[in-house]
Amino acid sequence: MDPRFDLVVDRRHTMSLKYDTAKAHQKPEDCLPLWVADMDFQTAPEILEALQKRVAHGIFGYSETTGEYEQAVIQWWKKHYQFSIDPAWIKQTPSIVFSIATAIRAFTLPGDYVLVQQPVYHPFRKMIEANGRVLLSNDLILKNGSCAMDLEDLEAKIRIHHVKLFLLCNPHNPMGRVWTKEELRQVGEICKRYGVIVLSDEIHCDFVWPGHTHTMLLQAMPELANQVITCVSPSKTFNLAGLQAANNIIVDPFLRERFWTERLRSGYDEQNVMGLVAAQAAYEQGEEWFQDMKAYVYENLCFFQRELERRMPVVKLAMPEATYLLWLDFRDTSLSAHQINRKLLTEAKLWLNDGRMFGPGGEGFFRLNAACPRSILEEALRRLESVFGTK
Ligand SMILES: Cc1ncc(COP(=O)(O)O)c(C=O)c1O
Repeated sequence: MDPRFDLVVDRRHTMSLKYDTAKAHQKPEDCLPLWVADMDFQTAPEILEALQKRVAHGIFGYSETTGEYEQAVIQWWKKHYQFSIDPAWIKQTPSIVFSIATAIRAFTLPGDYVLVQQPVYHPFRKMIEANGRVLLSNDLILKNGSCAMDLEDLEAKIRIHHVKLFLLCNPHNPMGRVWTKEELRQVGEICKRYGVIVLSDEIHCDFVWPGHTHTMLLQAMPELANQVITCVSPSKTFNLAGLQAANNIIVDPFLRERFWTERLRSGYDEQNVMGLVAAQAAYEQGEEWFQDMKAYVYENLCFFQRELERRMPVVKLAMPEATYLLWLDFRDTSLSAHQINRKLLTEAKLWLNDGRMFGPGGEGFFRLNAACPRSILEEALRRLESVFGTK
């Protein structure tokens, strides 16, 4: 237990999507919100200091990075993933969802199929539909709370529907899978064979748990480098989502150019300077804080799983290989997803993500965000137990 992460900070009335929008989402206002994937921890003191220094400067004109920012990103990937990035490969966007939308418009035409693997982070679907493309799912094969890829189906879908773009979630949200080098290679080989561009969303890469190793798609399949956009961001790692600073690693100059032209077309030009300052400080100075926070979150996951097994055996949970998100399996309650949802909201007073929003395979599952002080998790367990506990 680390007092820095035990601290409960009141997030209400801070324009927080998680804490201030229950009414707008038609949820009871006294629900404990453990849905959207941001953390209830204050970010690293080194980041706060860098932001405060920048605020004290007092001028917030247009921004542009000048090399140090890129070096901070490069060093993080070199140290953590033994991967060398050329500064020219780094292109910034405000967020990864923005990158996904940009890639969809840059590399496909209206009416084209875009491939995903459901159940998956739902903005993949939203961005495909919002941009007038058609979602095609290579559904994951679900087994014992985990999942595998159906490679035969992946290849067939790509071939039959002339897929140009595949949105890969690596590691996978919400299933918590860390794709192995071998799995990524097999995917990569199929994409290479059919010339499919892959957007590899690696936002959760820093939250990989003991026994597993994050492999970048670019590492598993270097021969695919001219077809890959790798999306990364300090927003999950350092809890900076509201500051809007993401990075896209694009090795191929032609791909980079097309992505960049589409980004310009959106009218979004310079990045938010506070996001850049925070991201640079995070990668340069945030390591120690991050490791301590990560250890705390891992303990949270183990604690939650232990308690759930002991107090509510009807709700199943497989430990995720990555992410701070728990994929709770309510299917043994013999209630419908709709009934579980109602019970969670109106009886347990818990606001979780209904698995159905992630697509086929999500029914009967609810996603719980465990990146919060232990006392909040304890409260969540009490609330769950009051409804799903063994009486
Ligand atoms: C897989 C995945 N991609 C992207 C995002 C959102 O990233 P951003 O806030 O940079 O758009 C999330 C947030 O939960 C996520 O889980």
